[in-house]
Amino acid sequence: MRPPYALVENIGFGELATNTGLSWEWRRNEMQICPKAPEKWPDAVENDQCPDLWRSVYGRSNLEYFYKRIRGMASLRITGLFNGPARLKTGRVNGQADSVGPVKSLIPPALLPLARRVRCQIFKTLKLHSHIEYEYLGSDWDHAETHFAGKGWNVEDIPVAEKSKWTKFQAMLQGTGPLGISHESSLNSQTDIGQHNTIMTFAYVTALASRGLSAMSILDWGGGIGHYYSLAKTVLPEVTIDYHCKELPYLAMCGAELFPEQHFYSDNSCLERAYDLVLASSSLQYAKGWKDVLTDLARVSGGYLFITRTPLVETAKSFVFVQRAYTFGYNTEYLAWCLNRSAFLAETQKLGLTLIREFLVSEQPYIFRAPEQCIYRGFLFRSPINREAASEGGLR
Ligand SMILES: C[S@@+](CC[C@H](N)C(=O)[O-])C[C@H]1O[C@@H](n2cnc3c(N)ncnc32)[C@H](O)[C@@H]1O
Repeated sequence: MRPPYALVENIGFGELATNTGLSWEWRRNEMQICPKAPEKWPDAVENDQCPDLWRSVYGRSNLEYFYKRIRGMASLRITGLFNGPARLKTGRVNGQADSVGPVKSLIPPALLPLARRVRCQIFKTLKLHSHIEYEYLGSDWDHAETHFAGKGWNVEDIPVAEKSKWTKFQAMLQGTGPLGISHESSLNSQTDIGQHNTIMTFAYVTALASRGLSAMSILDWGGGIGHYYSLAKTVLPEVTIDYHCKELPYLAMCGAELFPEQHFYSDNSCLERAYDLVLASSSLQYAKGWKDVLTDLARVSGGYLFITRTPLVETAKSFVFVQRAYTFGYNTEYLAWCLNRSAFLAETQKLGLTLIREFLVSEQPYIFRAPEQCIYRGFLFRSPINREAASEGGLR
């Protein structure tokens, strides 16, 4: 028996016969009207990847099949001990804490990065997983790109995954509950304290940048389908938000459909005016030419520039890593920079930006083989361009 065409097309295949991760959700879970049963069924068409995928998943002999099953079960068990049992999508919105396995619950938070490192090493040594989620690829982006055929961010799957959670995300923003929400997760919790910190930091930054204004303009570079537009409206209900988002084509298209009254760009025309606040949240690191992007963002920020959720290292040189984003329900892989902190801050100084506040960010993925593990940080800068010029859409 081989996987049906639809399974290959919709889920993708990993060592455990699926790459949807442990939340067991179908990535394309929107339902379509069932077509009428045809009077004569067409001949079955097999995806030409099926035979090979099937052999690679189930092994080429009985012995290999047995070994792979044991490995698959061990992988699930170890992940379960660490992260808790696989969860079914419950549809619950409020107060649903993320599950934590018995091993993780015994580890003090300060030792979690070390524990992740050990777990990653066990998985790698025992070849338990078919993929390492985050992996060091050296210091040369071009080299990493040439030797590594990732699909990148501009894939149809990402807006599909994001859109499927959109209604739930909007529902979580209603009312007076805490905003400990990660739109990148399966939205089972709104009490995640790390996410709460990220969103409250954003709330503080937008409140500061909008001081004295009844309407403010925001450029969100790499803003996805506009989650931060919804968040800005939620935390500042009395301020009119003029939202501009620079994205890659598939996400920009999806954002423009959701918010036709706002502005989504997949080219650089968003850089022809200035904004009260310029935001790059977990996005600058995905630009091969991050210095050029930073220069552009500084040029158009009239007042404040907020670069956040950025992976940094203290002593190692800036390096490139790959993220295989299957557990987010994204069937893709992409490259990112982990920047040397001094190199990043030196660049901001060259641009005349003044650092006002540094922020902690709770994310800390373990990057396999990296010379130094990263920490994530946020930085709020005041830009040299004056606010009046920005409010009028002017540039220096
Ligand atoms: C991890 S997501 C961050 C989304 C959102 N800013 C947040 O913090 O939740 C990174 C985003 O950067 C976008 N991105 C990557 N390269 C980009 C580029 N060259 N121009 C604009 N956006 C880009 C991706 O498409 C993706 O939506």
